This record gives sequence, structure tokens and C-alpha cells, in this order.
Amino acid sequence: MTRILTLGEHPPVDNFLPETELVNEKRFPLNVYFCHGCSLVKLLDVVDEKVLFHGDYAYFSSASKPLVQHFNGYADDLKQRYALTPDDLVVDIGSNDGILLQFFTDTCRVLGIEPSANVAAVARDKGVETIVGFFTRALATEVSAAHGKAKIITANNVFAHIDDLEEIVEGVKVLLDDDGVFVTESHYLLDLIEHMEFDTVYHEHLCYYSVKPLCHLFERFGMEVAAVERVNTHGGSIRVFARKKSDTPIHDSVSELLALEERSGLHSLARFQDFQTDAEAIRDTLVTLVRDLRKEGKTVTAYGAPAKGNTLLNFCGFTKDDITYVTDTTPHKIGLLTPGSHIPVVSPEILETDTPDYILLLAWNYRDFILEKEQSLRARGTKFIIPIPNVEIV
Ligand code: TYD
Repeated sequence: MTRILTLGEHPPVDNFLPETELVNEKRFPLNVYFCHGCSLVKLLDVVDEKVLFHGDYAYFSSASKPLVQHFNGYADDLKQRYALTPDDLVVDIGSNDGILLQFFTDTCRVLGIEPSANVAAVARDKGVETIVGFFTRALATEVSAAHGKAKIITANNVFAHIDDLEEIVEGVKVLLDDDGVFVTESHYLLDLIEHMEFDTVYHEHLCYYSVKPLCHLFERFGMEVAAVERVNTHGGSIRVFARKKSDTPIHDSVSELLALEERSGLHSLARFQDFQTDAEAIRDTLVTLVRDLRKEGKTVTAYGAPAKGNTLLNFCGFTKDDITYVTDTTPHKIGLLTPGSHIPVVSPEILETDTPDYILLLAWNYRDFILEKEQSLRARGTKFIIPIPNVEIV
């Protein structure tokens, strides 16, 4: 393993906190490593999952409208590929507020598995049956006995969060029908490195996947990657379709993407040699820009308080002296402070009356949607600073 990125010590990015909790805030090292054996890019400093995902978890997927649309399309795609009957079961691991399963309830049986009780409660209110807990082999056995085998198991933006992959893949094998499919979406390492999305590095994301290590992983457990697709969520992701080993041919998309990864150098350490200096260059440009604007008396706020925004704010060392406030659509984050940088999170309604000179777009993955949505604010004179893939003012 070779270290390819050092970001310093960071608090867990979804631990938004009130003023009274500041004294208890903990920081953990955030460094990224490359594995020479299997080309996997990962963190080695693993923060206890109970510190990251708990009854007060702040990330509700449905707070971002474009993400709801994405999962609606994802559900339609799965329904088209696999003719589901009302008796069939679809299980989502890390089902959050039911963002995906809500689109299956009119077609078949659904079951969510979600460790954060407060988020699971929102899913249940939508009519999505949800078990509060971490997915393990033991839980898979219980679910299989109580509900039968699943036709489809999904795990979106959570597969990379799991340290004990053996437990998960073994659990999937227990619960999945022999002709069932396991579908996972994960942020794609090729997009991360090509577009300098280094802010997507945080303790929840233990692995930064490409297709090659995923093929190895499933192989180890008697499964195989049957097809793979690139999708545009979170700055570029891969949707991987895995199944128990079978005689059905593997789709060309797998060898095509493996070849692209090889051509792009993704499987060798050399591809990552400028990662640190490139990340620092973005940080230095951004810090200089914001501090110069503040010296000129301009107001700077931020838009969206995504997890990745907290990596960026903390890597830059920004505080409320630099960024006055952050707006976010998640009710649970409003009224709290951003972890580490301690900037107040406020409702986006503030922008109906306040007109900051500059807004740092932390949720840059929704750039087009947000720039369009905020046309009237921009017409009033506010400029947006886009940090990734390079610092740009629009
Ligand atoms: P997201 O990019 O989904 O993920 P992550 O936390 O994994 O980095 O988070 C987007 C955040 O931005 C979420 O807290 C909701 C917020 N948001 C807004 O405040 N306004 C918007 O218009 C959109 C699309 C998102």
C-alpha cells in the first residue's frame, strides 16, 4: 500500500453539531492509499461505523431533488430489465429515507435495511418497510427466513462504506435468489481522479472503486460482475450488476470498462503521483480567492452542506470568518454547525432576501440544476464560485 493523498485530521463529515457539542468533537486522520496487488484505492484509518451512522444521522438522500429523479429512473430501468411480479422481493442495503424502494412499492414487495433510526423512520412514513440495523450475514439469514429470497438486492453509495466486505457479500449470497441480481452504485475512481473530486474523500467512503477490484472481490466469493454502466450521480459513478456465477455470457461493458481503466493508467500507482499537489493547488487557489474577497469587504457564503463540502471546508481551513453561512435543504442540518469548520447551516429561504456577493457551491455535483434554480439570485448580482474540477467563477 502506498499513500497517495494526505488531507489532515477531519471530523466525521455528517456529524453536524450544536454549539454545546463543540468540546466533544473528535477528528481522525484522512489519508488515501493505493493497493499494488489489486489496484484498490482506500482509507486505512477506519472510524467505528457507530460513530458515523447513528440515530442522529444528517444525510437524507431525498433532500436533493435531482437525486430523487435519478433513483426514479434507476427503478424504472430495473423494472424493465427484470420482469418483477407482486411476490418478488427487492431489498435495499443502506436504504436511507426509502429514496429507491419507494418506486417499487406499486410493483412488488420491498425491504429496506438502514442503520440510522431517524432516517429509517422517514422511509417507513412513506410506506417502505425498513429494518434498522447494519446488513450482516446473520441479518441476511433472518430476512431470508422471514421474507424469502430476494430477486434484486441493491446497495447504492454504501458498498464503499463497508469495511467488512466478506460479511456483506456472504450476506448477499444468502439472501439472493439463484437467478437474482445484486446491483450497486458507487462513485467511480476514474471520474474522481480525472475531475479532481478529492473532496469526495471522507471517513464514510472507505473504498474508491474501479471495475477491476470489484471483479476480484466478487470472484473471491463465487460471484461475478455481469455488466457495468457509467452513470452521472455524485460527479460520476458506476452501476455494477453482479450475480452468482453462471454460464450466461458476461456483457461486453465489463471488458470495455476494464480496458478503459487500463488505458487510463488507473491500475498503476503512477496515475496518482500528482494527486496531492493537484488537490493542494485547488485548495490554495480557493483559499486565496475567498480571503482576498473578504479583504475587499465582499460577503461569501456557501451553497449546500454535503458531506464532501465538509472535507473541502476543513482541508481549506475555512471558518465563519471566511464563509458567513451555508444554506442547505435538509431540515436536519439547519440550525446546526458544519463539522470542523463550525459555520452555521441555515435554510435556503435566507437567499430570498439576502444577496451575498459570492457563494461557494459545495454541492457542485448539482451545478447545472442549482445555477438554473438560482437565476433570480444571480440576476441580483450574486456570483457562484465552483471549486471542482478547478476553481471557476460564474
Ligand atoms: P450530496 O451531493 O447528495 O451528497 P454528499 O453528502 O454525499 O456529498 O448532498 C447534497 C447536499 O446539498 C444535501 O445536503 C442537500 C443540499 N442541496 C441543497 O441545499 N440545495 C439543492 O438545490 C440541492 C440539489 C442540494
